[in-house]
Amino acid sequence: FLSNTMNSISGLGILLDATDNEYMINCCGVVSSWEFYVKTNSGTVKLQIWRPEGGGQFKLVGENSYTVAAGDENDEFLYTVPTNERISVRDGDYIGFFTAGQPMISHKSEGDGTDGYTYSTTIGAQTVGSTYNWGSQTADTRKEYAINVRLVPGNSPTLSNLDSTVTFPDSTAANTLMFTVTWSDNDPLDILTVVMTTTTSSFSFDTTNGEVKNTGALPYGNNPLSFRVTDDCGRTDTGTLTISVTNSVPVITNLPATADITEDHANEQLLYTLTVTDDSLGDSVTCSIASSNPTTTNFFSRIVSGSTNYGIYIKAQPSLSYDTARQYILTISCTDTKDTAQGTFTVYVTRNNPPAFTNLQATKTIAASTTTTGSVIYTVTSTDSDSNQLYYNMTCAPAACPFTIHNSGEILSTSDLSQHTVPGYDLYVYVTDGKTLVGPRTLTVIISGINTAPVITNLPLAAPLTVPENSALSMSVFQVSVSDVNSADTHTYAASYTPSLGSTLFSLNTATGLISTSSTQNINFESVSTTATTYVITITATDGQATATDTLSIVITDQNEAPVFGKASYAISGNEGAAGSTVGNPSFDVTDPDTGESLFYSIDCPTFVINSNTGVITFSHDYDLDKAGTASSVTCTVTVTDGDLSDTASLVVTINDVNDNTPAFGSSTYTFYAQPSTGVGTVLGSIAATDGDVGSFGTVSYTLDQTSLGYEYFGVQSNGDFYVKNGLTSFSSGTTVTLTATAQDSGGLKDTAPVTIVIPESTTAAPTTTTDRHVTFLEDSRNIAWVTVASVLFAGLVIFWGYLFVRFGSFPCKNGSYKPNAQKVSRWPPFDHKENVRIVKSMDMI
Ligand SMILES: *[C@@H]1O[C@H](CO)[C@@H](O)[C@H](O)[C@H]1NC(C)=O
Repeated sequence: FLSNTMNSISGLGILLDATDNEYMINCCGVVSSWEFYVKTNSGTVKLQIWRPEGGGQFKLVGENSYTVAAGDENDEFLYTVPTNERISVRDGDYIGFFTAGQPMISHKSEGDGTDGYTYSTTIGAQTVGSTYNWGSQTADTRKEYAINVRLVPGNSPTLSNLDSTVTFPDSTAANTLMFTVTWSDNDPLDILTVVMTTTTSSFSFDTTNGEVKNTGALPYGNNPLSFRVTDDCGRTDTGTLTISVTNSVPVITNLPATADITEDHANEQLLYTLTVTDDSLGDSVTCSIASSNPTTTNFFSRIVSGSTNYGIYIKAQPSLSYDTARQYILTISCTDTKDTAQGTFTVYVTRNNPPAFTNLQATKTIAASTTTTGSVIYTVTSTDSDSNQLYYNMTCAPAACPFTIHNSGEILSTSDLSQHTVPGYDLYVYVTDGKTLVGPRTLTVIISGINTAPVITNLPLAAPLTVPENSALSMSVFQVSVSDVNSADTHTYAASYTPSLGSTLFSLNTATGLISTSSTQNINFESVSTTATTYVITITATDGQATATDTLSIVITDQNEAPVFGKASYAISGNEGAAGSTVGNPSFDVTDPDTGESLFYSIDCPTFVINSNTGVITFSHDYDLDKAGTASSVTCTVTVTDGDLSDTASLVVTINDVNDNTPAFGSSTYTFYAQPSTGVGTVLGSIAATDGDVGSFGTVSYTLDQTSLGYEYFGVQSNGDFYVKNGLTSFSSGTTVTLTATAQDSGGLKDTAPVTIVIPESTTAAPTTTTDRHVTFLEDSRNIAWVTVASVLFAGLVIFWGYLFVRFGSFPCKNGSYKPNAQKVSRWPPFDHKENVRIVKSMDMI
């Protein structure tokens, strides 16, 4: 053995052969003994098994300790490890050792470079299970250590308390501990794995503590469960646990029991509800009638509605007879399919005689007027040989009849029938003894003297009635008609109006039912339409007891109403004028009740035009009061119309005269001849002017401007005669004076003309004014003076007269008084009308 050399380092730890694996373990087993040589030093050596974990880390999986007493050194030791301290080893483990004091195990320096080891002087004592990083320690190959380990295969694990059987009832709660599986291994460091190899959802197995539990209701019968334990060398043991589950039996807790049933029982009925218990967690129990003595099909069992319990029933229309079978003993079986519980239920049949009516069917007549609430109208009687108390009820037709029946058999009125309208009822009466219902039997009730309600026969109408506005007062609108089975009844009427304004527009004769328009209130559409134009009249007709009600709708319709002048006569005034000029606006105050109407005016005087919309009056043609026969005031009739209806008023139109003509002298200049001796008052000639106006505007007055003469020598008479007003003696012969004459009308319009008065040389034969002839000629007021300027104007006159002759023809000289002796003619007069023309023959004039 390698015993020649010793280290001298305390606390040395050695891991053998981590470099060339010569000392690596290559089997699965346990350490049975260590063999080593101890040289020089006594003490305790730690004999170790290390397991690599990668990355240079090693785990100390086991350690045996051996102490060499002083004096025992320098010897070879074989340490047989006690069974309970054997270290389990695995393929790939390494051995090592550690001495806390001086080294004990010797070595030899072989120097072949192959026998490797790793050493550490700082590792210190390690506890089993800890890891140490040998990879970071120093490796060497110079020494071989005197140590050896011997391995044996090791022990198998065992399941210690199988195979066994445990028994539980099926009422056992879930998660109850059934059994605890135990296992062991003589190799204390083996790693054991235990599994339940049976696949089941009913049981759970805890691999840590070995507990077997039920996950829910236990399955009835034997449940074998297999287990296996395995150590980390793959050695195994198996065993079986049998869990035997027993059934909890059902128990009927409320049998025996009994029921009574009458022999004439008719309906299906629950007789008894069974109470059954079963402690099993997963069982459901069904019950049935297993047998009957005597045998019958009258009874059956099923789950009671709304419950989980079974009931015992009697079927509908059973065949029961007291005389044939007075009792039935029913055997009731309830089973959970594994065990069955039984009990007996006894049905006793009792005898019953049904009640019988003794006074129905029947007919009863009662008086409507005397039947009041609570009046007994009939008493039903019946008999029953084996029942003392009978019970009545009834239905009636028509339904909701005013009667009720008491258990005494009395039928009472539930209301006062004096107002009743249904003439009769059939009452369907039942009687029962509490077991058997008998009936129905009919009581026919006739109600006499019943009042029938009146009926309005002509309402409602298919369409509303139409009443035009302005209908006559008290006009009949509608006659309500009523029929009544009770022909002797008299009826009165009442009405209500919607809207209530209708009560002022219409009235109802309460005795006759005639609806009329109001006797005092005219119906004005425009006024009522702000409230409503449709009125609903609710009419009730009563015979004193009963009423009939119906409605009548009336629609008030609009009527066209005439426009009306506010006054009978209107007056306007305006000035004369041309066609189209405005005379004035009479401002007619016309009213029309109808809203939105368009009104038009017309006038019957052709002289005027009226604006159809505004009423303004204009002239239809030129209107000139200066024309003879033209009226200054005209009375016309004006008509206003809405297109359909109209009204008239008189219109007095006053036309004012207008000063529309200017006076005009007959000549642009005048020349008169006088002598200084011409006498005062002598008329030298006429300067008369004309004015187209009639009346005051046509009245011309004359003035002369003689301021240049220094004295008023001349004057003009109102007829235009120019005369010597004061003596001319101060003028010498050969003098010519000129002054201005003005003709002015009353409206201030005027014309002027120069007047020249020539006083010739006394030696010269001057043309003289022949006053006589002149005056004679002017006696006809409508004639104009003619003045001749003899030589100067003669040729012109001839041409002019010639023209006149061609134009107007030849006129006879009226009375031969015309003289061809020429007067001064300055211009042709402004005649407008032929009748004013006075012409002489040109030849006469010549
Ligand atoms: C009358 O009474 C019987 C027994 O109580 C009942 O079955 C029936 O429905 C009742 N009929 C009327 C109309 O109330």
